[in-house]
Amino acid sequence: MNKKIAVLYYTQSGQLGDIVKNFIQPFEEAGCLIDKIRLDTDKKFSFPWSSASFFDAMPESVQGAPTPLSSFHFKENTYDLIILGYQPWFLSPSIPTTSLLLHPAFAKIAAHTPVITLIGSRNMWLNAQEQVKAKLQNIQASLVGNVAFFDRHLNSISAVTIMYWAFTGKKDRFLNIFPKPGVADDDIEKASVFGQIALTHLQQNTLSALQEQLIQAKAVEVKTNLMFIEGRAKRLFAIWAAIVMRAKNRKRALFFYKYYLIVALFAVAPLVLLIYRMFFAPFLTKQIRNKKNYFLGIK
Ligand SMILES: Cc1cc2nc3c(=O)[nH]c(=O)nc-3n(C[C@H](O)[C@H](O)[C@H](O)COP(=O)(O)O)c2cc1C
Repeated sequence: MNKKIAVLYYTQSGQLGDIVKNFIQPFEEAGCLIDKIRLDTDKKFSFPWSSASFFDAMPESVQGAPTPLSSFHFKENTYDLIILGYQPWFLSPSIPTTSLLLHPAFAKIAAHTPVITLIGSRNMWLNAQEQVKAKLQNIQASLVGNVAFFDRHLNSISAVTIMYWAFTGKKDRFLNIFPKPGVADDDIEKASVFGQIALTHLQQNTLSALQEQLIQAKAVEVKTNLMFIEGRAKRLFAIWAAIVMRAKNRKRALFFYKYYLIVALFAVAPLVLLIYRMFFAPFLTKQIRNKKNYFLGIK
């Protein structure tokens, strides 16, 4: 019997679409029955973004507020595997992704079904994945694998290039000086290798061992510096989201958040990180290792 796979994702630039396409290529070649659904929202998130619309997406992303999705339907009643492609927005699942995870049709189809998450991020996806894990658990879906794609350049460099990409829609080299934004083409290409690993485990009924092999294949990596920054930023974003939600003047609150973010990203984070790496990290090696292993896993 051919395996039945549901593939769901939302993408603005098409980057996640390319990742998904390459990942599922081995499934297609093996003759699996693939139901591929590109999600959209009723109220569109513009791409390229304006500065105002970009920061305006922060509070609802962080607080996990859903928005209506354009109608979508599943061809089958049940699937052997669900592949969920998503991107983080403001250290949380993007609003369309949260909306899917809270959607009754998805809850129905995902219950008691294995799910693989495919993340197309800048470089900070740990907290988003924690939220996705919790939401999948709520609907009794069973997370069996996670593959995380990220921009391998320095955090500050990738922050500049992603802003350039988000505000112009161009995935090319800003000023011809900066590297290309987003996930490297080679990494996107490699998604099919991870897809093949997942397919083999699906065919051999060994999905419970999938994540271990994905970790070995470096389909998912956790960087100490980014884990540290994200851990701190997560709490601050939650505070900012609450401030903006309560503010009488949302625009003004978001104006302050925007400048906070710029200072935090380019001035505070590097300094705090330096102090952490020099004075704290050397004494916390075991704790750091345990934390990394936790985020590499799917529990
Ligand atoms: C509003 C917004 C917020 C984002 N926040 C994050 C983030 O917190 N962490 C991260 O790694 N990437 C972040 N990104 C990058 C996205 O996760 C994603 O990699 C990029 O937008 C390309 O996705 P696409 O396939 O939808 O075009 C953000 C992008 C946008 C547009």
